[in-house]
Amino acid sequence: MLATVGLSILLFGSSPALSRSTDPVNKGLVAFGYIPANARDSTGDTLGGIGSAIALKAGSFAKAKNGTFKGTLVVQPDRGYNVDETVDYQGRQHYVNFVLKPYYGSAPLSFADAAKTLQLLYKKTILYKERKGKATTGLDPVSVRPASGGDPILPIPNVKTKNQVSLDCEGLVLNRDGSFWVSDEYGPYIYHFSEKGSLVDVIQPPPAAIPRIGGAVNFTSEVDPDSGRAPNQGFEGLTVSPDGHKLYAMLQSSTMQDGGTDDTTSRHTRLFVYDVKRVPKLIGEYVVPLPQTAKKQKTLAQSDIHYLDGHKFLVLSRDGHGNGDDESQSDYKSVDIFDISGATDIHGTQYDNSTAVSPGGVLAANVVPATYTPFVSLIDSSQLGRMGLHNGGDFDQQLIAGKWEGTALASCQDPKYPDDYFLFVGADNDFNTLDGTMVGQPYSTSYGKDVDNQFLVYRVTLPMVPRGSIH
Ligand SMILES: *[C@@H]1O[C@H](CO)[C@@H](O)[C@H](O)[C@H]1NC(C)=O
Ligand SMILES: *[C@@H]1O[C@H](CO)[C@@H](O)[C@H](O)[C@H]1NC(C)=O
Ligand SMILES: *[C@@H]1O[C@H](CO)[C@@H](O)[C@H](O)[C@H]1NC(C)=O
Repeated sequence: MLATVGLSILLFGSSPALSRSTDPVNKGLVAFGYIPANARDSTGDTLGGIGSAIALKAGSFAKAKNGTFKGTLVVQPDRGYNVDETVDYQGRQHYVNFVLKPYYGSAPLSFADAAKTLQLLYKKTILYKERKGKATTGLDPVSVRPASGGDPILPIPNVKTKNQVSLDCEGLVLNRDGSFWVSDEYGPYIYHFSEKGSLVDVIQPPPAAIPRIGGAVNFTSEVDPDSGRAPNQGFEGLTVSPDGHKLYAMLQSSTMQDGGTDDTTSRHTRLFVYDVKRVPKLIGEYVVPLPQTAKKQKTLAQSDIHYLDGHKFLVLSRDGHGNGDDESQSDYKSVDIFDISGATDIHGTQYDNSTAVSPGGVLAANVVPATYTPFVSLIDSSQLGRMGLHNGGDFDQQLIAGKWEGTALASCQDPKYPDDYFLFVGADNDFNTLDGTMVGQPYSTSYGKDVDNQFLVYRVTLPMVPRGSIH
């Protein structure tokens, strides 16, 4: 009751709910929660970086009679604490149970009260392994394992002394059968794992995305390749159609040949579409123009995508400012929408090989890019203020994280507003803690302070999402 009154007064304004609008609506920030920076997982490692990818466990999200919701978020860190150098951190995902008690009021909550609106409880960890049980690693892959046993060439640290697949995990998609897809930055590849975390299949993208140095494939993240994905700009975004048959992976920013690492030319990124019903097959590829900063026209790279209706997708684009960065004031962090319905499908063309589709950042004249529309700004000060949070200013616990990277959607299960969803957003804290453990070694972050694992929840109306396709 309370919730509905709050909603109609504060969020709906002039009551657009009466007519079925086709435009998406941002109804505001309704919850905040965090896991402290020094929390550990069941292996003893610091529980960090967990917002790199987030997904709701199917069937876990449920509404209680008292207006609260509960569910399980499956969260996935990237390659561990790696400020000095990369470490032998095994790929993994964590189950985190939560209780969501949406706050619809306008009066600002204290930080402590706000943190009760999304209570998070770590449950367990699943470690990623190769087919025969060998652990994956986070170490920089300066070597290449030759193709074998149906697998393409794979990124590894050393063919003789450390022949284990290197993962820098970024995207996560859960399948109904319990198996899951992981996208990574090194390859950039997409890996299919069984429910228990064993490798099942590997998708290698077209040559255009594979990093090459001096003509040879080289997966290192330490050096700019001549072509292919830019270093640390791999498949940040991964999402799937509700039937689990179409998988979508998007590069964080342009390939080297399409604009490279210069952030004034790197906005034309690529979305790859795979049919994964049987043997994975590339069936579509589109150019998505990322937003740029107003002042210096610098690319705001994307950190996640989420399927809406097959044409439209959520996309999280942002700068890195905020907690964990040297600069606290962010100019752009936003969950936006792009639409590929009018865009040119370039898969199977010369652009899959070495021909740039956006040489120097200038898009080929015969290629129509996706359209891109801003949607939910994560740095709206009045919304953040309602949860005791702020953008810019002091580097305190109330400063929002710099690196928001994961998105998930759940239906609000509100019969009055059947197109309303909770949009969960998770941040990657880069394992910044003064009290850390990584691969058996204690550490204290060189950043000099704790950065919590923060989560935000928004309420949004998404009329384009087929009803019943997201639970
Ligand atoms: C609401 O109900 C759920 C499930 O029964 C319970 O776990 C939770 O503590 C309740 N919350 C409040 C605020 O009453
Ligand atoms: C990849 O590049 C790194 C850095 O230049 C180099 O040390 C390494 O030997 C290269 N690996 C291969 C397989 O060429
Ligand atoms: C891309 O390169 C491969 C290998 O060189 C070649 O077989 C294929 O025909 C090329 N495709 C296009 C569309 O140019």
